[in-house]
Amino acid sequence: PRPDDHVIVLFGATGDLARRKLLPGLFHLAHAGLMPEHYRIVGSAPAAVALGDEEFRAHAREAVTEFGRSKPEGGAWEEFEAALSFGAADAEDPQPLLDAVRRAEQSLGGRPGRLCHLAVPPAAFASVVQLLGDTGLAEGTRVIVEKPFGTDLPSARSLDATLHAVFDESRIFRIDHFLGKESVDNILALRFANGMFEPVWNRDHISHVQIDVPERIGIEGRAGFFEGTGTFRDMIVTHLFQLMGFVAMEPPTSLTARALRDEKEKVFQSLRPIDPAHVVRGQYTGYRDEPGVDPHSDTETFAALRVELDNWRWAGVPFFLRSGKSLAQGRHMVTLGFREPVLRMFAPDAGADGPHGNVLAIDFDDPGSITARFRTKQPGPSMRLEQAEMVFGYAGSFNEAHALEGYERLILDAMLGDQSLFTRSDGIERLWEAATPLLEEPPPVEPYPPGSWGPERIDRLIAPYRWSLPDR
Ligand code: BG6
Repeated sequence: PRPDDHVIVLFGATGDLARRKLLPGLFHLAHAGLMPEHYRIVGSAPAAVALGDEEFRAHAREAVTEFGRSKPEGGAWEEFEAALSFGAADAEDPQPLLDAVRRAEQSLGGRPGRLCHLAVPPAAFASVVQLLGDTGLAEGTRVIVEKPFGTDLPSARSLDATLHAVFDESRIFRIDHFLGKESVDNILALRFANGMFEPVWNRDHISHVQIDVPERIGIEGRAGFFEGTGTFRDMIVTHLFQLMGFVAMEPPTSLTARALRDEKEKVFQSLRPIDPAHVVRGQYTGYRDEPGVDPHSDTETFAALRVELDNWRWAGVPFFLRSGKSLAQGRHMVTLGFREPVLRMFAPDAGADGPHGNVLAIDFDDPGSITARFRTKQPGPSMRLEQAEMVFGYAGSFNEAHALEGYERLILDAMLGDQSLFTRSDGIERLWEAATPLLEEPPPVEPYPPGSWGPERIDRLIAPYRWSLPDR
């Protein structure tokens, strides 16, 4: 489906996220023919860093050249470029933005939809929301809100109060770009469209679950943001817990936004308060020497934790979550470890104690894959067991050209008004609530060498199981 005509107002249009993801993503949607038939994109930023229309077009072209999958050329680019304009906005003087939006809407005729994307730092958030309310821009608009959604329960609540003073929940789209990844949707397909997976997707058959998102990159000059945030808030509370919601949810009654989000919400409700004793916080050696980082910084660049869900499906099944910067590999993995069968009939030296046992590993890297690991018999006259695997790879199985990246998919959904893959305030508040014991008494950070898999203690955290990465 193609959205109705739209004016997209991009706050923070000169920022990092717009440059790396949003402008290239919007252009990819245009290139793929998924933008509305008629659209305008109005960039905005405070007057001090504002651009003129032509400068904004040049800025977008550079961003798309550097980070885009679709190159800025041909008719699609000309059309996209012509749709761009800029309007500065400060609390004291929002007029240039109002003028730019009015011009954009008039040029589309009729009454185009309006989508405001708030890609601004947390400190600027409240003033932009208030500006939208005061100027009337909020009326009839949908709003995409970027993480972090607060830093703890009180701040998340106050953020929500700020938003709800201006917007109805039905118009708020809290974006978590992991939920726009193709393979996340595919968890729903894998679990609920196949008779061979869902029946074993529970505590009777699964011993533990790993959600593992190591990153090879460091903080990439984002000290200003990262110092006050850290990996737990940046990655775990947002992306990894959201993935967990999809892995662990009960079958929704339908694929509507309401049903899906209700089920995900129930998972968060069943999350036990996080025990700081089950958390490893790490910091890579050399982090404190990065420009802009406090030489005594206690900010974690790594977090691994063991959490539990107190419900019928998952009682007693630990979920292990890990993410961190400057690690050995950049990966996105969900791994389900299965319980062992009774192996008595096999001789102790038959190789039955291989490293994995039965594992289902879902790799979210673009383009992604699903691997089943199991034991098989070596050819020959005696019963010797070996690990084997079956791999399904998206690349080579489907026409990848139709795949969208997280942001692309989610911006499209927001224009269509579909909230299924966006997060809801009750869920987020519950996650902060469960995180409170950890936030109040965080264990000290432990050092780890860049290029490793984290501090040594992570192996004890997961024992008697083993991290499924690195691949063995
Ligand atoms: C962002 C975090 O939300 O996600 C970054 O702020 C992180 O710190 C990024 O690097 C990871 O996203 P992806 O899609 O590259 O895994």
